[in-house]
Amino acid sequence: MLNMHYLDNAATSWPKPEAVYQTADKFMREIGANPGRSGHCLAKQADTIVEETRELLAEFFGAPDPKLVTFTFNGTDGLNLVIKGLLAPGDHAITSNIEHNSVSRPLRRLEQQGVDVTYLQADANGLLFAEDLAPLLRPETKLVIMSHASNVLGAVQDVAALAKVAHQNGALFALDAAQTAGHQPIDMQALGIDILVVPGHKGLLAPYGTGAVISLRDAGILPWRDGGTGIKSDSRMHPNELPYRLEGGTLNAAGIAGLGAAIKFINAEGLTNIAAKESNDMQQLLACLQAEERITIYGPRSAAERAGLVAFNVAGLSSAELGQQLNDDWRVAGRPGLHCSPLSHRAVGTFPDGSYRLSPGYFTTPNAIESVCAAIRQICREQ
Ligand SMILES: Cc1ncc(COP(=O)(O)O)c(C=O)c1O
Repeated sequence: MLNMHYLDNAATSWPKPEAVYQTADKFMREIGANPGRSGHCLAKQADTIVEETRELLAEFFGAPDPKLVTFTFNGTDGLNLVIKGLLAPGDHAITSNIEHNSVSRPLRRLEQQGVDVTYLQADANGLLFAEDLAPLLRPETKLVIMSHASNVLGAVQDVAALAKVAHQNGALFALDAAQTAGHQPIDMQALGIDILVVPGHKGLLAPYGTGAVISLRDAGILPWRDGGTGIKSDSRMHPNELPYRLEGGTLNAAGIAGLGAAIKFINAEGLTNIAAKESNDMQQLLACLQAEERITIYGPRSAAERAGLVAFNVAGLSSAELGQQLNDDWRVAGRPGLHCSPLSHRAVGTFPDGSYRLSPGYFTTPNAIESVCAAIRQICREQ
């Protein structure tokens, strides 16, 4: 429905930059071939585009070598790859009590197989603190993994401080940047992020079916998928070299071409400009929500402390009822419920009903923000 006010960018960004549509379309119509296979000129062209996107990603996130960029099919795919490819029975891992299911569920499965997992507790606003992490570390702690910003509470973590403490004990620090990549600068080397997991289809403005795991050095992640790579086809074993080790099978090359175009778009617009625009939208939304007595907001009060999403409830309405009204009467597309993060909702007491989440994006217009605010004011005052 074209005339909706789309404020569900935390689920997936929409619309995409025009160049993303055009590049993915052009790739499928004019190149089409399988990158890294066959050796004919179309396959080589496809390969060049995939490798260019790999370079763009490495540069964008401050990784030292494009070979350390593995393409995945979404954030969940990358998080499963990291968690299941690193941890074995007897290992210890630390995560938080406000993670998305794509971190907490793979860990839960491994817990049943003999991996020990400790849950760092967030404060009431969803913030995690390095001083609380330090006592949880053990000699056998292999991995500390958490989100940069919760997709419910929105609080942006002090990654540098958390990574520093993890490193003091020799653990790897992995970051789920699903809600921050493409929204704010992330320099892996400066922040000490050993492994960064990003979906392409959210803040990076790329098509569905894209994402990446990016490492500062080869962390020894083992593949769960062996198969064709286009290299060393004579060997019975899947190759160990990166990026092939973790990329068995045909890539989503058209999506990756779109991801490359999306990163070029973000670079041209300027990530700091994007962050400033999104922060301004968030300030306006927060001001409008904070003015209503019936509204409870979850997470930090100020836009400066949060990613571009805000979850809240209106007293007297379930999140589903609010979502229905906003959709049906006001053409607002947001997200009610548990947001695939029941842990966050348990942490702030909104389980099992959840909350209603608004997440503007780079293409959200001032008119959309004003319309949503008007709708919320009316809903809060009329019932
Ligand atoms: C914090 C967080 N982590 C991971 C994911 C999973 O990403 P994807 O939907 O690309 O699998 C999401 C998606 O909403 C998320 O918000």
